[in-house]
Amino acid sequence: MQQPTRIAPSILSADFARLGEEVRAMQAAGADMLHIDVMDGHFVPNITIGPAVLKALKAHSSLPFDVHLMIAPADPFIEDFAAAGADTITFHPEAGPHPHRTVQHIKALGKRAGLALNPGTPVAAVEELLGDIDLVLAMTVNPGFGGQRFISGQLDKIARLRRLIDDSGRPIDLEVDGGINTETAPRAIAAGADLLVAGTAGFAGGPKRYADNIRGLRG
Ligand code: DX5
Ligand code: ZN
Repeated sequence: MQQPTRIAPSILSADFARLGEEVRAMQAAGADMLHIDVMDGHFVPNITIGPAVLKALKAHSSLPFDVHLMIAPADPFIEDFAAAGADTITFHPEAGPHPHRTVQHIKALGKRAGLALNPGTPVAAVEELLGDIDLVLAMTVNPGFGGQRFISGQLDKIARLRRLIDDSGRPIDLEVDGGINTETAPRAIAAGADLLVAGTAGFAGGPKRYADNIRGLRG
């Protein structure tokens, strides 16, 4: 069942020199969780942050940490991210040969497990794992950078994922990530999304704007 829309600002678009303040401001502005984009310069052509930063941010926010691993392999780092304070750990099936094993690993650590689908990755990559996972992340840009344009061709995939999730009868979040703004958010929601990542649109205009930005995306 599609839930009321929740907004997860991606700290990739925050001011990295003031990350603690940024995260506090986003929580005060009404964010539902924090989306943390972890990139390794190998799975994606960019490098961002690791578990040490996550751990440091934990002191600045009581929001759930929604960790998006764009790293390969992911398995050797799952424990570090769990220990650093991740609440949900999402990985890409292309990151390793055994996504089912990775899901079990995350669950065994008491964390929620998510599977991320690149624009070119078929829905079939998630089907056999719907009985185990807590979240599906549909990428509406190719991973690696904030500020890219929303790929509208993915809306049909989001709708198919919504049907599969509803058929499963399980409480699985359907998260959409990439190019979300006030124009694309309603389209993603109409297709079935109930959790929206907002990097550029979330942090636009600085802290005074965060509450309005979040309200505008929630619809
Ligand atoms: C892209 C990341 C996204 C990104 C979203 O690889 O997974 O979370 O930060 O940024 P915007 O909202 O600017 O597209
Ligand atoms: Zn992301």
